[in-house]
Order: sequence, then structure tokens, then C-alpha cells
Amino acid sequence: MTDRFSFALNATDGRARTGAIQTPRGEVRTPAFMPVGTAATVKAMLPESVRQTGADILLGNTYHLMLRPGAERIARLGGLHQFMNWQRPILTDSGGFQVMSLAGLRKLTEEGVTFSSHVDGSKHFLSPETSMEIQRLLGSDIVMAFDECPALPAAEEDVAKSMRLSMRWAQRSRDAFGDRPGHALFGIMQGGVTRELREESAEALKAIGFEGYAIGGLAVGEGQEAMLGVLDYAPGLLPEDRPRYLMGVGKPDDIVGAVQRGIDMMDCVLPSRSGRTGQAWTRRGQVNIKNARHADDPRPLDEACSCPACTGYSRAYLHHVFRSGEMISGMLLTWHNLHYYQELMAGLREAIAAQRLDDFVAEFHAMREGGDI
Ligand code: GUN
Ligand code: ZN
Repeated sequence: MTDRFSFALNATDGRARTGAIQTPRGEVRTPAFMPVGTAATVKAMLPESVRQTGADILLGNTYHLMLRPGAERIARLGGLHQFMNWQRPILTDSGGFQVMSLAGLRKLTEEGVTFSSHVDGSKHFLSPETSMEIQRLLGSDIVMAFDECPALPAAEEDVAKSMRLSMRWAQRSRDAFGDRPGHALFGIMQGGVTRELREESAEALKAIGFEGYAIGGLAVGEGQEAMLGVLDYAPGLLPEDRPRYLMGVGKPDDIVGAVQRGIDMMDCVLPSRSGRTGQAWTRRGQVNIKNARHADDPRPLDEACSCPACTGYSRAYLHHVFRSGEMISGMLLTWHNLHYYQELMAGLREAIAAQRLDDFVAEFHAMREGGDI
């Protein structure tokens, strides 16, 4: 165990990398997928079950936790790790992105953003300084800089203006974060799908200096082709010796494409959210457990999967409990989806270490094209 935050690469294959982040709360093997625990819980999962799927780190949200139950309260109760019974690393998003997608009435100024809560309509203010303070109170291991993320498509001059504001906020985030051994601050690149803006953003962040660098402003309506187009060059604009985190991505094939292009960390609500809506992700593609064709099917979701949903239950049972609105439905499908995502990450890490990522990716795509599952 270490009392410092550090990152080391173990191997590369093409542009893909595998390595590990060390923190006082444990190691994060990269490429890493972070399950989303927005409201101090990965919905439908016990923390020890999330760990059993293979997760090294969770994502939490400044926006939700500041509104309910409040960062000061969590601090009084011993911090977020203690509060939610997850002792391993936690990364927290900074709030600006969630304000834009969830809050009611918003007012954006150079200083920060005033908004009304989606919970009770109460008025709140977030800025680089208040976001750093809230993430400190939560006890987050990896703190995200406070940024703004425009929805795409947007006019290029609006994307440029927003990116430059985010870069001024990145400097204020760095200043407010201060020196906190064992904790890391990550900057967030913006700039939409415009290469010159991405380059300008990367230069601004590198001049400030961060322990890690995120690529933000993607998976916001631009489509997979445009996203992978940005990822063809964006990771290469960032320091090689720091973790690179692609925010809010994605589907399994997005993850594979991002890792091939040099991404080390990702998060997405997809495996947990779709587990609660009857969608399963498997090696052979997506399965909609709601579908009537599963009603008499004695086979498991995936006969090669070692998760509790696949080792103990038939598709017929999973179909039945979903149709009946039973809570175990969301529990089992979320577990399966998180297990599948973590197994995919482990496969990617092993393939990169063995320099056989191309074969792994070819097999990944071939499995999914096998037809009806
Ligand atoms: N989550 C997904 N995209 C983004 C982004 O651009 N910024 C932040 N802060 N969070 C995100
Ligand atoms: Zn399974």
C-alpha cells in the first residue's frame, strides 16, 4: 500500500495501454471500468457484490450528494467511503455536467452556476471552489475539475467559448484543490468534435498540470463515429505518463474502441441502468429479457458467464421476475451486466499485456455477429 497517488504503465499494444493506479485506498487496474454509484449506492447492488464483479473503483456524484443527503452530513458521518460501506477508491464527478442535464432553472456566469434542485426546487450554487470543497468533504480519492459541457451538435463558437470557460475553471479548481497527498485532481478536456479546440484545451490543461486527464464532452449526441474520430487523436494530446479518463462511455463496443485508442478509465450508467429495465449485455450482444421468446427458455442468459444470474437461474425465471416487477430482477441483471463489463475489462488488460489486442478485438466482434441469441 502507498500513501501517494501514482500511475504506472505495465505494457502497451499499439496505442492501447495497461497499468495500474495506486492510491492509499487500493489499486485500480487499467483499463478500468467504474460502475456508477450516483447517490452513494450502485443501484440494486451491495458494495461487496460490486467488488465481486471485479470493480476496483466507483464513481460518485457531487451534484446528487450535495442536494441529498448533503456533503457536510456525509463528512460528519465519516465520509463517503464509510457512509456507503465501500472502502476502495472513489472518483467523484464535479457537478457541472449533472447541473446541465438534471437541474431546473440554471444561470451560468464566469463565477459558476446557480440552479434549482431537481429534488425539491431549492436554489444552489456550484463553482470550481464550492465543487472542490464538496468533493473534499465527501473524501473522494479522485476529484474532477469543475467544467461545463455543451450538448452536441452546437455552434463551434459556442463550443469554443464554453471550452475556454472550462479551462479558466480548471485553473481555479487546481488553485482551490491545493496540496492533498493521496488524493488526485483530474482536469477535463473539452472542445466538442473540433480538433483545434481539443488541442487548445489539452495545452491549457497541461500548462496547469493535473494528476490525470479526462476527455469530456463526448457521448453527448455526436454518435459513435464522431466520438471515435475524436479519440483517434485526443488521447495523444495528453501526457503519456498520466491516466486518461473518457467520461460517460459507454456501450461495450465503445469501450473496446476507446481502449484501442489509448483510454485508461471509463464510467457509464448503462450496465446498471439497463439491468433495471430488462436489458442484458452479453458476449453475444444485447438480450431483452422482456421478450416473450424467453418465457419457456430453460437456458441461462449466457452459459459461459459465472455470475449469480447465469449460474443459478434460467432465462424463463429472469423473464418471469422482470414481468412481475420483482426486485430480484434488477438485482440479477445488474449483477450480470457489471460482471460482463468487468470481464471485458480484464480481457482487454490481459490482451494488451500479451500484445494480442487485435485478436481479442476481432474475437469480440465475431462473437457479437453470431446471430440471434
Ligand atoms: N460526464 C460525461 N461527460 C462529462 C463531461 O464532459 N464533464 C463532466 N464533468 N462529466 C461528464
Ligand atoms: Zn451472467
